[in-house]
Amino acid sequence: MAIQRTFSIIKPDATARNLTGAVNAIIEKAGLRIVAQKRIRMTRDQAETFYAVHKARPFFGELVDFMTSGPVVVQVLEGEGAIAKYRDVMGATDPSKAAEGTIRKVHAKSIGENSVHGSDAPETAVIEIAQFFSGNEIVG
Ligand code: RTP
Ligand code: MG
Repeated sequence: MAIQRTFSIIKPDATARNLTGAVNAIIEKAGLRIVAQKRIRMTRDQAETFYAVHKARPFFGELVDFMTSGPVVVQVLEGEGAIAKYRDVMGATDPSKAAEGTIRKVHAKSIGENSVHGSDAPETAVIEIAQFFSGNEIVG
């Protein structure tokens, strides 16, 4: 398996509960390296662009409201098969269906306020990383 990079967001429900370090501990324990990280407040424009794929879904407005409701921590994670590995570490979208020990099982509040985002494919990882980081901000 090749070394990959994936894009991660620690969402507002997690930053509000001071869980950045707790989430990062799970990420690092899984063998993923945090090679870029910054805490930002997303604008509505940024959140709408980021989740544009869900624009027609009934939860889109709620999702944008949530993602702009407080600080988030955007990250680039690196490691072997990082994209699929991080999806495993995150757990299912709905925390009640997430496996034991996953970030969402341990920390998420609900299907909407589910603590983390991770890219779902190599193509989306590249686009998402480029939305928030320039090349010289990523140090592997
Ligand atoms: P993400 O994109 O944030 O990593 O999450 P995901 O792939 O596991 O889930 P996705 O289907 O892409 O949904 C994106 C985010 O939208 C919110 N959502 N709310 N209320 C609902 O039924 C509902 N469904 C999805 C969640 O915050 C989800 O992570
Ligand atoms: Mg998704």
